[in-house]
Amino acid sequence: MQRISVIGSGTMGNGIAHTFAQHGFEVALVDINAAALASARATIASNLDRQIKKETLTETDKQLILNRITTYTDLAAGVRNADLVVEAATENEQVKRSLFEQLDKQCAAHTILASNTSSISITKIAAATQRPEKVIGMHFMNPVPVMKLVEVVKGHSTSTDTTAEITALAIQLDKIPVEVNDYPGFVANRILMPMINEAVYSVYEGVADVEAIDNVMKLGMAHPMGPLQLADFIGLDVCLAILRVLYEGFGNPKYAPCPLLVNMVTAGKLGRKSGQGFYTY
Ligand code: NAI
Repeated sequence: MQRISVIGSGTMGNGIAHTFAQHGFEVALVDINAAALASARATIASNLDRQIKKETLTETDKQLILNRITTYTDLAAGVRNADLVVEAATENEQVKRSLFEQLDKQCAAHTILASNTSSISITKIAAATQRPEKVIGMHFMNPVPVMKLVEVVKGHSTSTDTTAEITALAIQLDKIPVEVNDYPGFVANRILMPMINEAVYSVYEGVADVEAIDNVMKLGMAHPMGPLQLADFIGLDVCLAILRVLYEGFGNPKYAPCPLLVNMVTAGKLGRKSGQGFYTY
């Protein structure tokens, strides 16, 4: 695999493009929003500067990495030569199904179609294509250049060859792949999101204030970030979308999103990316 197309250049897409380019791959970064592409390029450059400061990268490396990333607003042009597509667009089933239907038509027969979805069924996404054996979850963690885990999600029809290729690729990116099966929330978010939701309920019910809740989890459980700080970092809209997938997928009321989380997202308080969430940025 040499040419990777990354679809969506938000929080995750820019990190995924950065990581592939840093490991020598040619990257086409695609977004429907030109402003998002410009901001992704700026974020990647500033994250590379941070690596230069830490002396893990040189200025020359930075230029080489940036030169490997080309941006596109046109999907067909951005995926034309891809060996692998990693989709990191908005966490919405309709958006992903429609994207995969188009990708299936526009990509070469050998192209693997991966989704970075946090929780949407890979089997459902694969069903929008004629190549379900080549559709897989490649779930990176945020921030992508730093976090080691890649949750490799096998859909109902994902072939063992596809799984093996993506596992090997994750290792090539200096990540640690963990294989999981396709059930709502996979493993990472099935465990993380109920914890975040419970933290939001603790604010909603006045058990403690935001900082107190985060301090309990940081100091008491050795979590590097409190759950509310982490929710802001992930994006409250993304957290809400994942909780809804868990709620609908299992039909179990224990996953019902806290009304405070719903209200915050409705009010546009999405966390770090909007400047306001449980904290102000
Ligand atoms: P985001 O909201 O920051 O970025 C999404 C981007 O996708 C936007 O720039 C938007 O313009 C673009 N987009 C939407 N529809 C598109 C289309 N049809 N074609 C091309 N681009 C399109 O979202 P974020 O947080 O980067 O999430 C992306 C995916 O990664 C989601 O599936 C999410 O569940 C997953 N994810 C998010 C994590 C996080 O910490 N935020 C962690 C791991 C996975």
